Amino acid sequence: MNIDVISLFPEMFTGPLDQSIIQRARNDQKIRIRLINLRDHAHDRHRTVDDRPFGGGPGMVLKPEPLFEAVESVRTPESTVLMMTPSGERYSQAVAEELSEAEHLILICGHYEGIDARVDTLVDKKISIGDFVLTNGALPAMVVIDSVVRLIPGVLGDCESPTEESFSSGLLEYPQFTRPASFRGMDVPDVLLSGNHAEIARWRKMMALERTRAIRPDLLERKTETHISHEPGTTREN
Ligand SMILES: C[S@@+](CC[C@H](N)C(=O)[O-])C[C@H]1O[C@@H](n2cnc3c(N)ncnc32)[C@H](O)[C@@H]1O
Repeated sequence: MNIDVISLFPEMFTGPLDQSIIQRARNDQKIRIRLINLRDHAHDRHRTVDDRPFGGGPGMVLKPEPLFEAVESVRTPESTVLMMTPSGERYSQAVAEELSEAEHLILICGHYEGIDARVDTLVDKKISIGDFVLTNGALPAMVVIDSVVRLIPGVLGDCESPTEESFSSGLLEYPQFTRPASFRGMDVPDVLLSGNHAEIARWRKMMALERTRAIRPDLLERKTETHISHEPGTTREN
C-alpha cells in the first residue's frame, strides 16, 4: 500500500512511523509512506498556506490552492483521499478494515480553524477520530495509518493476529493473563489453566460479553441491530 500524508508538520511523523510494526512493514515493503509538506505547494514569497475566513470569525483557514496542488501531485485513479476533520465520519475498526484494502491512501491533515470547504471536492472520506478537537491533523493521520497498516495481510506476525481483538467481533476483548499464575494474591482464573479449549472459549466469550455490557453497551446494541437486519425475527447476540 502507498500512503501519502499532506501536512504542515511532517516532522511530527518521524518517530511513530519509524518504530515497531510500522517500521517493519516499511522495511518489508508492505507499505511506502511519503510525507508531503503543504508549504512546498505554496508559491508566494512567504509560502502562505492560510488566510482569514470570509464572513469573519476567529483564526485562519487553509487555502485551497496548495491543497489542490499537493493532492493532484500524487493522486492516481487508484487513490482514496481522506481528510482528517472533527466534522468527519467517526473512525472505527470497520472503517480501518475497509481502508486496509485500498491501494493508495492520501491523508490531508488540517490546521488552524480548518480547511477551505472547496477542498471537500477532492475527498473520498472525511474522518474524525473522536468527539474532541486536536490542534492539527497529524495525530489523527497517525492513528489511521497505524490502525490500517496492521490489518494489511502479512504485516502482523502469526502471534500478533488481529482476529480476536476488541471490535473485530463487535465486542471488547476478554481479559488476558500471562505468567505467573499467582501474583500478589491475584490468581489467574482456573479455567485458563485447565487446558480445556472448549471451556476456555466459552469463558472468553462470556467475559467479552460481560465487559462489553459494562463498558460499551452501545456495541451490543449495534451488534443486535446488525443481527436483526441480517436475520429477520431474531434478536440473538450470537
Ligand atoms: C483545531 S482543528 C479545527 C477544528 C475546526 N475549527 C472545527 O471546529 O471542526 C485543526 C485540524 O486538526 C484536525 N483535527 C482536530 N481534531 C480532530 C479530530 N477529532 N479528528 C480528526 N481530525 C481532527 C483537523 O485536520 C483539523 O482541520
